[in-house]
Amino acid sequence: MVNFTVEDHDGNRQEIEAPVDMGFSLMEILKASEYPILATCGGMALCATCHVEILEGNDDLKHATDIELDQLENLPEYFPTSRLSCQIRISDLLEGAVVKLRGEDQ
Ligand code: FES
Repeated sequence: MVNFTVEDHDGNRQEIEAPVDMGFSLMEILKASEYPILATCGGMALCATCHVEILEGNDDLKHATDIELDQLENLPEYFPTSRLSCQIRISDLLEGAVVKLRGEDQ
């Protein structure tokens, strides 16, 4: 299991524990934890509604891939450590991270 913190749109923080060996994405865990993630494209890196910002954590977590940047660059606002949560695999890299929800919530 890995433990990390999620900050919602209102700034409320909650610790989340997630299994590292089941192949889940961060987006799937956020949805399962009842956060308002639309994930319209189902995790195909096509909608950017699963946008998160990595506030704290391993540097390797903080770099969006080119596929992610293609979507993030179309948003009105994104940040140096913005990621698409559907493209982050749940792994030990997330241990101690703080993830802020940035995607549309309705
Ligand atoms: S769920 Fe659509 S880009 Fe992540």
